[in-house]
Amino acid sequence: MLRFASPSTFDLKDAISDNRLLGLWRMMTGFRLKYLGATLSLALAATSKTATYLLLRYLIDDVLGQGRGSGVLPLIALGFVGLALFEGSFTFLSGRLAAQTAEGVALRLRNYLFDHMQRLSFTYHDHMQTGELIQRSTSDVDAMRRFFADQATNAGRIALLFAINLAALLNLNWKLALFSVIVVPVVVLGSILFFKLVSKRYEAFQEQEAALSTNLQENLTGVRVVKAFARQAYERERFEEQNWEKFRRGRRLLTMHALFWPVTDVLCGLQMLAGFYMGARMAIAGTISVGTYLAYAGMVIWIIWPMRNLGRLVVDMSSGLVSYVRVMEIIKAEREPLTEGSYSPNGNLQGEFVFRDVSFEYDSSGRVLQNISFRCKPGQAVALLGSTGSGKTSLVNLLPRFYEYTGGSLTLDDVELKEYPRAYLRRQIGIVEQEPFLFSRTVRENITYGVGRDVSQAEIEAAAQAAAIHDVIMGFPNGYDTLVGEKGVTLSGGQKQRVAIARTLLKNPRILILDDATSSVDAQTEGAIREALERLMEGRTTFIIAHRIQSVMIADLILVLDKGRVVQRGSHQQLLRQPGIYRQVYELQTRIESELEREMESASSWEAVSVAL
Ligand SMILES: Nc1ncnc2c1ncn2[C@@H]1O[C@H](COP(=O)(O)OP(=O)(O)O)[C@@H](O)[C@H]1O
Ligand SMILES: [Mg+2]
Repeated sequence: MLRFASPSTFDLKDAISDNRLLGLWRMMTGFRLKYLGATLSLALAATSKTATYLLLRYLIDDVLGQGRGSGVLPLIALGFVGLALFEGSFTFLSGRLAAQTAEGVALRLRNYLFDHMQRLSFTYHDHMQTGELIQRSTSDVDAMRRFFADQATNAGRIALLFAINLAALLNLNWKLALFSVIVVPVVVLGSILFFKLVSKRYEAFQEQEAALSTNLQENLTGVRVVKAFARQAYERERFEEQNWEKFRRGRRLLTMHALFWPVTDVLCGLQMLAGFYMGARMAIAGTISVGTYLAYAGMVIWIIWPMRNLGRLVVDMSSGLVSYVRVMEIIKAEREPLTEGSYSPNGNLQGEFVFRDVSFEYDSSGRVLQNISFRCKPGQAVALLGSTGSGKTSLVNLLPRFYEYTGGSLTLDDVELKEYPRAYLRRQIGIVEQEPFLFSRTVRENITYGVGRDVSQAEIEAAAQAAAIHDVIMGFPNGYDTLVGEKGVTLSGGQKQRVAIARTLLKNPRILILDDATSSVDAQTEGAIREALERLMEGRTTFIIAHRIQSVMIADLILVLDKGRVVQRGSHQQLLRQPGIYRQVYELQTRIESELEREMESASSWEAVSVAL
């Protein structure tokens, strides 16, 4: 229902401002009429309250006081009922409009944040914790929603109530009226002071809450690691410590709030009593009528009330303002330009890569790749071998422009890679990772994810068959409609990989990256996966990262990486002929494998013996 009310054309970057109130005001673009409506309705409701007291004065002074009655009484009664109805309807209308404003702004903000966070660069995500992002797009957005729902509308209401009632009071008796607002400057100054203190504490509280949700999120994602290393007790202690800190900060924040109310309540209470006293004396002395006194007593509450709430409002506003800054920090971050690029490719890619002295660093902490030079012809396979941390993943991450190389030249089909639009490169490159990520959706949705065109069931099944996963899927309770993840089947590492291979087959990319795609599966599945991969590699330029010689020996060119440099290069046969890491690894792996084989054989002959006995 709110959909039509949320103009999605508004770019929230326009709401960035150093003046937080101005920023929040800009954020209301498209909802300002509703907001004004909410404030005005509240004001109308407030005037009817004032009118009620004026009617009361009339009743007492001019009707009962003059001994008139019977004729006007029903009319006056009707007037009271009418005013109550009027007030009720406008209070309701105001609440509705305020809710629409607040929910609408929050809805738009959440959608924007979600879209925005998906477009931020890899570098941004490297530096920003997931838990922090979750915290800011939930808890902080909610604090802003409360700001719009409560504080923004109430600010208008309070100002109007104060102005209307003060005017009415001035009209009633200007001396009494002025006497009733003596305390205002004190309340205002006190509120500003508290606002500053509460802001600081609220910010500290939100920071700690973010740390806690980061911890929670990492522990849930890494639950296998925690279990594998039996670190539950340690993690629990860490969590409890952080939780305790959150408790402490929360307590400090609440203490500040708690301290504020009694202080203002006492101030406002004293002010009110003094007013009552002054009024009573004036009434006794005959300076004002009894009706005026009664009306004053009713109305003065409605000028003390805004005063007291102005303070509360200012203090409450601190959370909205702090959250505004925290959310805007995300919105300020530059998006990764996806479609920009001076080169607009037409026709098909050949898929030839030429690296010339390419170097790369994530940040100033040092070069991760140095002077990488090689050529990969269209349709060829290049394998990267090297210990963990030698820079293999970093090298292939340059190809889809996940990161930008920082030195040298890297061309694809004779055009510098930096000239290509990122979105184009990513359509042309398929990646199969060591542990592919699958969404908690159906198997079919996972296979067709990002394919970017309509695919028939026959096509999906053909891809699944080629990836040697079709039979597994048919064994699931709902076949291709089976849900993956928490609410459905759990796939093994090897099965996930084959789903990813099927997905990549459907995507049919010109260039293929296999990052450790065969390292974590057992020998039997590895055979199936290797066959599926070889089918996938046909006719595509391929980069293979692997630890096993068996997986890299089929490549046309093998690069051995060490600390970001190429230390050996050549085909399998060439590398075997020269001394170096490659031959050592080869000898080690074949020795281990033949020993394993021998053990298996002796184990099976043992079985034969025991069966024979
Ligand atoms: N996102 C990143 N930010 C900063 N440094 C990184 C990042 N990813 C990897 N590194 C560093 O770059 C080096 C190479 O890592 P990587 O390319 O992942 O190696 P490999 O894939 O060969 O195991 C390592 O020293 C690693 O710590
Ligand atoms: Mg790696």
